[in-house]
Amino acid sequence: MSGMFDLSGKTALVTGAGRGLGFAFARGIAMGGARVIINDLTAEVADTAAETLRKEGLDASAAAFNVIDAAAAEDAVARIEKDVSPLDILFNNAGIHRRASLVDMPEESWRAVIDTNLTSAFIVGRTIARRMIPRGAGKIINTCSINCERPRPEIANYSAAKGGLVLLTRAMCVEWAKYNIQVNGIAPGYMLTEMTLPLSQDPERNAWIESITPAKRWGKPEDLIGAAIFLSSGASNFVNGHVLFVDGGMRYAL
Ligand SMILES: NC(=O)c1ccc[n+]([C@@H]2O[C@H](COP(=O)([O-])OP(=O)(O)OC[C@H]3O[C@@H](n4cnc5c(N)ncnc54)[C@H](O)[C@@H]3O)[C@@H](O)[C@H]2O)c1
Repeated sequence: MSGMFDLSGKTALVTGAGRGLGFAFARGIAMGGARVIINDLTAEVADTAAETLRKEGLDASAAAFNVIDAAAAEDAVARIEKDVSPLDILFNNAGIHRRASLVDMPEESWRAVIDTNLTSAFIVGRTIARRMIPRGAGKIINTCSINCERPRPEIANYSAAKGGLVLLTRAMCVEWAKYNIQVNGIAPGYMLTEMTLPLSQDPERNAWIESITPAKRWGKPEDLIGAAIFLSSGASNFVNGHVLFVDGGMRYAL
């Protein structure tokens, strides 16, 4: 029975895995048996993260590229599949925040967040699905957010991107499920990473998050590992187009 969660022999690319939630996803599925490829913007960041996992005895290597650059993604995926292994699993995880109220939001901030948090999943997802489809198997996991259905002030760009990512997850499912590709989302609540430092370091916002979350605490990146292994493994072979909230119950309290 436990074999259905086994990731031995599987190879996964995790985007934006140099730190934070992506690093936790990579470490978690590597602990579950997978070989992981760490993506981030710079070789230095991706190499350092992969080296950290290798020191823990895990199978990790690095592939730096910008997830919004289609040509770079295509080159990197071709190189990984030639030099390492065909990809069985993709985590579209890279993301950014550019906070501003809607009336003050520069167009550049809007476009940067939509590109990085939404269009990148189309770019990298399409690149890898083209290879998964003839192989008749694949797992794609998109990092959504509690804000995909609950916008907050000053993150309209982010909420719109993550809401779009939920629909992209379902659209990928509708087109690719027949090729035995499962596409699902993980929607974290408020998790302690560098991205959320402006919130966790602000006493008022920190207190609001702790009080509104039914679990009465911030999420830790490790809280996502169970969901990551489930959606990467054979245990989820008939789960498709679903978004799994890992949020301490916050979805029902906001
Ligand atoms: N932290 C949270 O509370 C939280 C909650 C819900 C969803 N998320 C989502 O989880 C994902 C990871 O968030 P995090 O908190 O770990 O953020 P983070 O800022 O700590 O890490 C994001 C990583 O992505 C990389 N990255 C950014 N743009 C990139 C690009 N164009 N190409 C390649 N890599 C790029 C960054 O260099 C960084 O290493 C994001 O999609 C975020 O929206 C985070």
